[in-house]
Amino acid sequence: MTQDELKAQVAQAALAYVQPGALIGVGTGSTVNAFIKALAASGVPVAGAVSSSEASSRLLAAAGIKVLDAAAVTELPVYIDGADEIDGQGCMIKGGGAALTREKIVADLAQRFVCIVDASKQVAVLGRYPLPVEVIPMAAAQVARRFAAQYGGEAVRREGVVTDNGQHILDVRGLAITDPAAMEAEVNQWPGVVSVGIFARHRAQVCLLGTPTGVQTLTFA
Ligand code: A5P
Repeated sequence: MTQDELKAQVAQAALAYVQPGALIGVGTGSTVNAFIKALAASGVPVAGAVSSSEASSRLLAAAGIKVLDAAAVTELPVYIDGADEIDGQGCMIKGGGAALTREKIVADLAQRFVCIVDASKQVAVLGRYPLPVEVIPMAAAQVARRFAAQYGGEAVRREGVVTDNGQHILDVRGLAITDPAAMEAEVNQWPGVVSVGIFARHRAQVCLLGTPTGVQTLTFA
């Protein structure tokens, strides 16, 4: 089974978490693109979507799904998004598509985070995937020095990328994130960090894992 087929499989499985007639939160990335396609094809009616990126908003609009501003919404029953890595507690690394800040904002509105990934994203310890951090450009060098000093990580700017919020992304290699909640809390309070791509406080409650033998549903307390 190809990776695209695994993504299509979990995208289809995620439809079970969409309440007909309700709002949904929609993430960003190729797996979410497959979900938007599956949602459009399913005919399941939704009241609208709060999107985590301009790219997803365009796809949703093209599929005839109304896109709402996050400011107009107080709560979402569910947020459906992919991840770059997910551990055994539902903590994730996200931001490979540079949308981490808006993803965290939409996840924060949601009662439940349903993560859709293929099995290659499952890890014992987060950090093999370079950790994305959105930073205000003025702070980038200082944040990079702090990663080296405090965690032994090497932070490199993602060249040519400017986020939907007009900021830069650092990708940090060489981390073993054994305590995601602690690192998330620490890095988030460094001056100039907009947000760090560790989703521990906003971890997944459900993970739909695409495997060659079918979709596994993992739930996290
Ligand atoms: C976007 O910023 C990321 O957080 C994505 O959720 C992540 O990169 C997963 O993307 P794919 O579904 O393309 O693997």
